[in-house]
Amino acid sequence: MTIFHIFDSRSPDLSNSVPSLEPETQMDPSEMPSNLIGRNRPENPFSLFKQWLEEAAQKPVPQLDAMVLATVGPGGKPSARVVLFKGILEEKILFFTNYRSRKAQELAANPFAAVVFYWEPLQRQIRIEGKVEKVPPQKSDVYFASRPRGSQIAAWASKQSAPIASRTILEKRFHAFQQKFSGQPVPRPPCWGGYWLIPDYFEFWVAREHRLHERLAYRKNENGWDICWLQP
Ligand SMILES: Cc1cc2nc3c(=O)[nH]c(=O)nc-3n(C[C@H](O)[C@H](O)[C@H](O)COP(=O)(O)O)c2cc1C
Repeated sequence: MTIFHIFDSRSPDLSNSVPSLEPETQMDPSEMPSNLIGRNRPENPFSLFKQWLEEAAQKPVPQLDAMVLATVGPGGKPSARVVLFKGILEEKILFFTNYRSRKAQELAANPFAAVVFYWEPLQRQIRIEGKVEKVPPQKSDVYFASRPRGSQIAAWASKQSAPIASRTILEKRFHAFQQKFSGQPVPRPPCWGGYWLIPDYFEFWVAREHRLHERLAYRKNENGWDICWLQP
């Protein structure tokens, strides 16, 4: 199987790499084939996001709730990792992590981030970009209390992203916190909690024949969302 394609060796033209969305003027949704997402697209991308989540939940999508979170580190260098999508709250995308982790340090210095979902059985991708904020502590408390006890203890034991000399040290820390909280509820560590991404850009992608994939983009404006199709 050929995985890598040979790229044109000329320098790429990046002038269009960040699409500025012109409100649609030429494409008439009613002229589009009915199976295209653009045909019946809602004005609010959260509606489409929720609809796609529900459709994905009907299919055997492995780890439907896994999303790649990209942040920006020192010197403008990107870094990315998978985190679990924990829902939509007040039109914000929720996830939980350690507030001293690498991603947290990067978000403290630059709060802009992007997340990506890919659901292979549906041949769909969703890209979401925006600004990240910490969620109010009470919301983190509620979610932390719902986690399995082992995960709660692990949140105390792991200084996420910090190097550690051995696995044994980590396991000893886990057992020490197990004993410390024995017979009582595990409180949320102050360095662990939620973030929400406040989107200003969504892109919905569906694989189509001949790689003429469909891409529907939403960019936030003062009153709502500009919508346009992007070439595949
Ligand atoms: C399927 C999957 C789900 C994950 N979910 C989370 C999560 O919800 N929160 C989290 O902090 N790390 C999660 N991780 C681990 C992260 O990918 C990453 O290793 C960790 O957050 C440290 O990243 P950082 O050093 O860039 O901060 C998950 C990993 C995988 C593979």
